[in-house]
Order: sequence, then C-alpha cells, then structure tokens
Amino acid sequence: MPPACIRIIRTLPTPADLFRGAADEFMRLGRELIAQHGRFAVALSGGLTPRALYSLLAQDYADFTWSRTFLFFGDERHVPPDHPDSNYRMVNQALLSKVPIPAGNVFRVRAENPDAAAAAAEYEATLREFFHLSANEVPTFDLILLGLGPDGHTASLFPGSDGLREQSRLVIANWVEKFKTHRISFTFRVLNHATDVMFLVSGSDKSDMVQEILGGQHEPPYPAQLVQPEGRLIWMLDEGAAGKLSP
Ligand code: 6PG
Repeated sequence: MPPACIRIIRTLPTPADLFRGAADEFMRLGRELIAQHGRFAVALSGGLTPRALYSLLAQDYADFTWSRTFLFFGDERHVPPDHPDSNYRMVNQALLSKVPIPAGNVFRVRAENPDAAAAAAEYEATLREFFHLSANEVPTFDLILLGLGPDGHTASLFPGSDGLREQSRLVIANWVEKFKTHRISFTFRVLNHATDVMFLVSGSDKSDMVQEILGGQHEPPYPAQLVQPEGRLIWMLDEGAAGKLSP
C-alpha cells in the first residue's frame, strides 16, 4: 500500500483570494524547484476555473523565471488549438502570450489530429522524451494542477470511463460518453507520481461534490478521490466550494 499522500485543504474567503493564494503557491514552489533542480515542470489544467489563476500569473509574475519553467497539459479536448473549447487556446490567451516563456518550453497536445489515440500516443512520447524515461518509467511532475467537475471527474477521467482502469499508458484518448467525444488525458499513473498536486475549486456549485470527495468514501470512488500523489495533495477552495464541508 503506497504511503498516504499529505492532504492539505486550504479555504480562502473569496475567488480572488483563492486565485491569489494559488498564484503565490505556484510561485513559491517554482522558485524552490528552480533553485534546487534548475527547472519547474508543471502540468496545467483546463476548463474555466484556472483561467483567473493564469491571468494573475501573467499580470503579477511576468518577471518569474519562465525560461526554466516547462508547461504541459493534464488533458485536452479533441479540437484544434484555435477552437473555443481548446485548453491550449485558453492558456495561451491568459498566460503564454503574455509572459517570456520560450515556445520550446510549452508542450501542447496536438489534438487537431483526427485520430485521438494517435494524439495521445504522441503526447506520451513527448513526456517520455522530456523526462528521459525508459520503457516502464513514469514522469515526476513537480506540480500538476487539477480541477473538479460536478460529477467528480478530474483531468478528463470521467466516472465510468475506461480511462479509470488504465494501468500502463501515461496518456490516453478517453471516450466520454456524455459528450460523445474523446478527451486526451493523463492517466492516474502520471497524476499519482507527481510531487505535488493542486486542486483548484471555486464556487458553491461544486460544494456538494467537494463534500462528497473530502468528506467520505464513495463506492466506486469518484475519479478525483483516486488522485493520491507521492507528495502533497493540496485542495485550494474558496468558501463557496467549501460551503458544505463540516468545520
Ligand atoms: C477540462 C478540465 C476538467 C476541468 C473540470 C472543471 O478540460 O475541462 O481539465 O477536468 O478541470 O471539468 O471544469 P471548470 O473549471 O470549467 O468547472
């Protein structure tokens, strides 16, 4: 039984405080890792919630050592990079186009490939090359950012989807029945091998699921409950999202 990860739950009063707290933690970790190892390898999350964090990083931390920061995507929608649903597009608009990060430090999923499985396999090869992995090795991200869906999904690992049972691959094309599409997603092998994982959850519409995830066991476990990284599991919540947690 792998050692239990260190679970930290931080509740900030407002969404603005939440994103400020997350930005400060991102920066603190980044400076520490770059000082120690000369680089900061991060997987970003998509969806709506993290956009405000990325904008804050661009606004207040343009002088950060972006040249030693390497950005990946924990999941991507099966669309081209200029599509409104593209996580890359959102991150590019909010952050990448505004900070001096070398293009070679940003590793997007080439989700324009009509063959989602091929796009996933290519992204896995990109991970293996960047982290110099041998066949059975798993990458260790310094930080993986994750969001939480109202159904308990995280990255693009949805309840009842095949991706929950993946034991060998690092990146998969996961069929999401409710959206009738594939999503390209990291598997739990990668998520649970990270040094730190930070969930960023805002708003009362997520409070029921936050309470379910943090407050108890569920059978089968929600995908977000299966995230148990090697190091720290940081839940960054605003009071809306934490509204149903018992004090
Ligand atoms: C995605 C995300 C996904 C997201 C949750 C929460 O590509 O959509 O990676 O896992 O984090 O769906 O999304 P919101 O932040 O939009 O509520």
